[in-house]
Amino acid sequence: MTLKRIAVMTSGGDAPGMNAAVRAVVRTGINYGLRVYGVYRGYTGMIDGDIEEMDLRSVSGIMQHGGTILLSTRCKEFMTEKGQTKGLQQLRRAHVDGLIVIGGDGSLTGALKLHQMGMPVVGVPGSIDNDLAMTDMSIGVDTALNTALDAIDKLKDTAASHGRAFIVEVMGRHCGWLALEVGIAGGAEVVLVPEREPPLEDVAQEIKDGYLRGKTHAVIVVAEGAKHNAQAVAEYLTREEVGFGVRVTILGHVQRGGSPSAFDRILATRLGVAAVETLRDGQSGVMVGLQGRKVVATPLEEVLAAQRPLSSFALRIEEMLSR
Ligand code: ADP
Ligand code: F6P
Repeated sequence: MTLKRIAVMTSGGDAPGMNAAVRAVVRTGINYGLRVYGVYRGYTGMIDGDIEEMDLRSVSGIMQHGGTILLSTRCKEFMTEKGQTKGLQQLRRAHVDGLIVIGGDGSLTGALKLHQMGMPVVGVPGSIDNDLAMTDMSIGVDTALNTALDAIDKLKDTAASHGRAFIVEVMGRHCGWLALEVGIAGGAEVVLVPEREPPLEDVAQEIKDGYLRGKTHAVIVVAEGAKHNAQAVAEYLTREEVGFGVRVTILGHVQRGGSPSAFDRILATRLGVAAVETLRDGQSGVMVGLQGRKVVATPLEEVLAAQRPLSSFALRIEEMLSR
């Protein structure tokens, strides 16, 4: 069957650069003579039939904006077979014969379900967590990393003035990638990630040693998925009297917003174009991702089954240079 009408949607946690991916999908599709539809509000909108045709102008001037013009949701109903069937029916009603899902691991799990039900689907990794395997980077990660880094740089100014230790909590859900990389880029004294969490006694000792060696301040980055949250770490360090006064900053959703970096815009654009071309090639149930300098399509089953361990080199660098 030749492809005539494709749809694009964003789902799960939004990520800066999603708009650039939507723009690339719409314009590439139209360039190939396809009609392109937007599914609004993720799987919730799919179930509700919130599906509208897009044109070249509907994606004008969006690339520099964070968020997603297609909006996004987390949709419990789509986790059920009934919800998935309803969503599929709505796509069929709109005569959609190919779908591009931009989102994180949950969204791509939903995409795999639709593929298994017979809808041609290509996934695009979009999530600040960088927890998806088979792509070096997901859309939004670079911008989120720079946002978190900017915050840490600012916190270091005030930390140094007051001789304080700042415990900074960064997002990432169960994955410590964002925390580890921002810890390296920001020169943090300690990074606590779910993948490697030293006992709090060791953390306190390291901060105390730094204080005694004459450090003027300290930064401890804690991934939100770590066993001890930022508050618990702060309470422990305060009790142990590590020398520095202790403060907590939770960066939270600020990391999800903002104008996407050049890297994210270019990555999103490349993946958006590749997603349409992959669908046109007759492939389905795959995710397009960045591997080295190349865009590669990998079966979603493989992507979702794989673990994405943190780089042991990055972990070693962080430990070695934090003194
Ligand atoms: P992300 O895509 O950013 O990882 P979520 O994990 O919240 O975000 O997933 C987004 C949405 O994808 C969920 O709200 C749900 O609608 C859908 N989804 C997640 N897991 C599944 C699943 N196992 N089966 C079907 N749909 C799913
Ligand atoms: O997956 C992206 C993410 O920002 C995670 O880092 C975080 O745990 C979660 O989404 C927050 O979700 P919500 O926006 O629903 O609060």
